[in-house]
Amino acid sequence: MKVFITGASSGIGEALVLEYAKRHRNNSTIIGIVARRSEYLQKLQATLQNTYNIQCAIYPLDVRDSHALASAAADFIQNFGAPNVVIACAGVSCGTLTEHAEDIAAFKAVMDINVLGLVHTFQPFIAAMRTAAKQGENAQLVGIASVAGIRGLPGAGAYSASKAAAISYLESLRVEMARDNIAVTTIAPGYIRTPMTAINQYKMPFLMDADVAASKFVDAIEHQYRFVVIPWQMGWVARFMRFIPPFLWDFAMKKAPQKMRMNWDWL
Ligand SMILES: NC(=O)c1ccc[n+]([C@@H]2O[C@H](COP(=O)([O-])OP(=O)(O)OC[C@H]3O[C@@H](n4cnc5c(N)ncnc54)[C@H](OP(=O)(O)O)[C@@H]3O)[C@@H](O)[C@H]2O)c1
Repeated sequence: MKVFITGASSGIGEALVLEYAKRHRNNSTIIGIVARRSEYLQKLQATLQNTYNIQCAIYPLDVRDSHALASAAADFIQNFGAPNVVIACAGVSCGTLTEHAEDIAAFKAVMDINVLGLVHTFQPFIAAMRTAAKQGENAQLVGIASVAGIRGLPGAGAYSASKAAAISYLESLRVEMARDNIAVTTIAPGYIRTPMTAINQYKMPFLMDADVAASKFVDAIEHQYRFVVIPWQMGWVARFMRFIPPFLWDFAMKKAPQKMRMNWDWL
């Protein structure tokens, strides 16, 4: 089993790495992990090797850098072969308001990381995965979107737009890859307890712990679901969101809580 996961230094990505490690310990499993903070990746690598006896390759990089991802993918393929599963989980969320000129940089960064980051992650693996799939190996690309991409949320224009784009992009990719027997799975999480949601000041319905969510994500990946919302209760909310008319959506969102705007220099 060979898995490559971005956004592995924290939250859902880290929980996914540990879930794969638990399920495939001592089983010639290899996991490639990506994020910017190398100290977190090194800590996770040590845990995988010492606790689970799993080989782990670390790639400290920014998913906005397509060349860095191409080098990481080439290194992974050269050392271990084509991965069976590539999970693009790296992402950022922030409150944005179009009226503020200083938020334009945040809009750009969120779109670059949450949308182009997916393309940069998958592109360099496709040729090798296509060849592996022809030889009967499992090949699957997984993108982490969000329920926030189903309708526009006030105060989160950048995030909602990026996740809507991610959902559409992943659907295009799924149809394109079908002829090569490469499965594509879109996971749209509701609220998961991670550093990303820790700053939210409002009530988060059906909030789920990251380790519980990761187990459900990996179940969905193993079933090769095309599109899944987790937790399931949010799946019903998402269906409702998708179909209510704009005037009802506007009414429902009038008093909706909004994500805080912050200083986005770190993006
Ligand atoms: N938590 C939720 O409720 C929720 C709901 C829906 C969707 N999601 C999605 O789930 C994914 C993971 O979110 P999370 O909640 O686990 O958030 P998190 O704890 O903040 O983790 C985000 C991860 O993405 C990485 N990352 C961010 N920007 C990056 C960049 N430019 N290059 C490389 N790595 C980058 C971070 O690593 P570094 O900072 O070390 O680079 C970190 O590992 C995101 O795509 C998010 O939009 C989360």
